[in-house]
Amino acid sequence: MADKGKFAHYMLKEIFEQPQGLRDTIAPRVSLKDGTVRLEEVRIGEDELKALRRINIVASGTSRHAGMAGQYMIQDLVNVPVDVDYASEFEYRNPLIGRGELTIVITQSGETADTTAAQREARAKGSRTIAISNVVDSTIAREADGVIYTHAGPEISIASTKAFTAQMAVLFLFALYLGQVRGKLSKDQVRRYISELLELPKKVETVLESAPDCERLADKYHKMESFLFLGRASHYPVAMDGALKLKEVSYVHAEGYPTGEVKHGPNALIDENLPVVIIATCDRNDLGSLLRYQKNVANIKGFKQQSGRVFAIASQGDEEMRQMADHTIFMPQASELLLPILEIVPLQLFAYYMAVRKGLDVDRPRNLVKSVTLE
Ligand code: AGP
Repeated sequence: MADKGKFAHYMLKEIFEQPQGLRDTIAPRVSLKDGTVRLEEVRIGEDELKALRRINIVASGTSRHAGMAGQYMIQDLVNVPVDVDYASEFEYRNPLIGRGELTIVITQSGETADTTAAQREARAKGSRTIAISNVVDSTIAREADGVIYTHAGPEISIASTKAFTAQMAVLFLFALYLGQVRGKLSKDQVRRYISELLELPKKVETVLESAPDCERLADKYHKMESFLFLGRASHYPVAMDGALKLKEVSYVHAEGYPTGEVKHGPNALIDENLPVVIIATCDRNDLGSLLRYQKNVANIKGFKQQSGRVFAIASQGDEEMRQMADHTIFMPQASELLLPILEIVPLQLFAYYMAVRKGLDVDRPRNLVKSVTLE
């Protein structure tokens, strides 16, 4: 797996490997027939999991964005409070954690110095730790009480793509496992979610068909000097990672922001020189999602009045969005907590094609390394 094959860059290859990475990460851990998730590698007893008072998630960069998505998954499905921290800040805030709490450290490489230090800090304070890593026997995996490996395969490009979607899948699996252990989710509920998880790789393959559209957008916007990425609720982490991808591979400034926060300042920036990329999907079976969608529509109308250019990630069949936004990439139907795994794909592709259009070293961006082993 560690060569580019037919692809021009590892980043593009790894974006297209996401369906297989998701299959390999999900399938061995679920039983549709039984309606159960099995995570023996967690190695923390069910009694301890039942007694958990709080979960802390600590990571860096893209892995922290996965943790942000995991916070919505675990809180919504299991009703356990979750905090998310930058690993590089964790030690400075004197985290008030200890026994009866779980710290989940998320890391593709398993060698990130900030995240290693954070895990050691959490353990020193008495917290149990679980690592989510893409590298078997990495330092962080070895030092954790339990480890749940993503099976995304070797990720060579400095920009993390397939590890990110696999991390979110693992966090969803963990939320289902915790929910079933704590009696919060019935077998039927778990079975329904497992069924949706198993359909996810095919849906990612559908979204990958938008690659030519993303390439055309990069060609159209490659001279822009800044972008604003917006998302609400579980889509906010997607906006954050879309912005990070663009920054790190194309050197174009980009900021991820909660959509609802724009009126508290950034709105002053929005005009024809600052394109807005907004996650505006809608799970029509979810009232909260419908209400958030209506707010997104109001935001977009406002941006258009400010002669802002809007690139929307929307749900298939949303003809209103097609009329309203300047460009729309459509997502297949999925539940609110799993949509982020689909929504990030066009943003990864857009960042990739922007870097290619600008003639940059896509897989090895300047000033960056794949695993930041120094604090
Ligand atoms: C992501 O595209 C970046 N390369 C970077 O933010 C990365 O996610 C971060 O350094 C954490 O790396 P890790 O997952 O290996 O710990």
